[in-house]
Amino acid sequence: MIATSEQDVNGLKEIGKIIRIILDDVEARVRPGITTLELDERVGVLLAQHNARSAPKLAYDFPGYSCISVGNEAAHGIPGPRILREGQLVNIDVSAEKNGYWADSGRSIPVGKVKDHLADLCRTTKMALEAGIQAAKAGFPVNSIGRAVEAVAKKKGYQIIDGLVGHGVGRNIHEPPEVHNRYLPSGREILEEGLVITIEPFLTKGRGNYREADDGWTLLTWDGSPSAQYEHTMIITKESPIIIT
Ligand code: CO
Ligand code: CO
Repeated sequence: MIATSEQDVNGLKEIGKIIRIILDDVEARVRPGITTLELDERVGVLLAQHNARSAPKLAYDFPGYSCISVGNEAAHGIPGPRILREGQLVNIDVSAEKNGYWADSGRSIPVGKVKDHLADLCRTTKMALEAGIQAAKAGFPVNSIGRAVEAVAKKKGYQIIDGLVGHGVGRNIHEPPEVHNRYLPSGREILEEGLVITIEPFLTKGRGNYREADDGWTLLTWDGSPSAQYEHTMIITKESPIIIT
């Protein structure tokens, strides 16, 4: 959507803040021994407390309040009763709606202490998101975001997982444009002031492809490599975007 009024901006900020509060809460609960189902149930409780609704449930009838992906799962993992173990990465992606406004944010979180290569994967993916955010300015083409994200990945020796992309958001969970994590010559659409998008790089040391699991939801890295994702929702301005999550 294009946020054109103060009401739009306030509505987006409200749902964005709720998502941030929820992610902070569940991140603090991540530890060896907790199950992904417990984390998701907490997401459900907090959504209800804030009168917000789970976007994946609302839009796709997803079997969970949030997407929780572990190990070789890149995205859209079903929360299910899986026990988290020391040394894993767990990705929690919360998207939600309130009063007709939608936002989306995700984080990869270490379970206990993780090996250096996983900590570096997280650090680099955060840097890639930050570079993408800095490139997201009104008047520039959408592919300037992918160019910035890709540059960080390349410099640090990581692959972008192709096909997992950021997106427009605001009046629904997935709106145009697609916000690719690499430079696509065709991505010439100009970022407009007020446009609401997510940026969400997915990085891996593996091949950078994914496949769908038999459950019909979970997206696995092709070669079983771990991956990380960080995602924010933002409103485009002529200066730095307004991060709402
Ligand atoms: Co998301
Ligand atoms: Co998203």
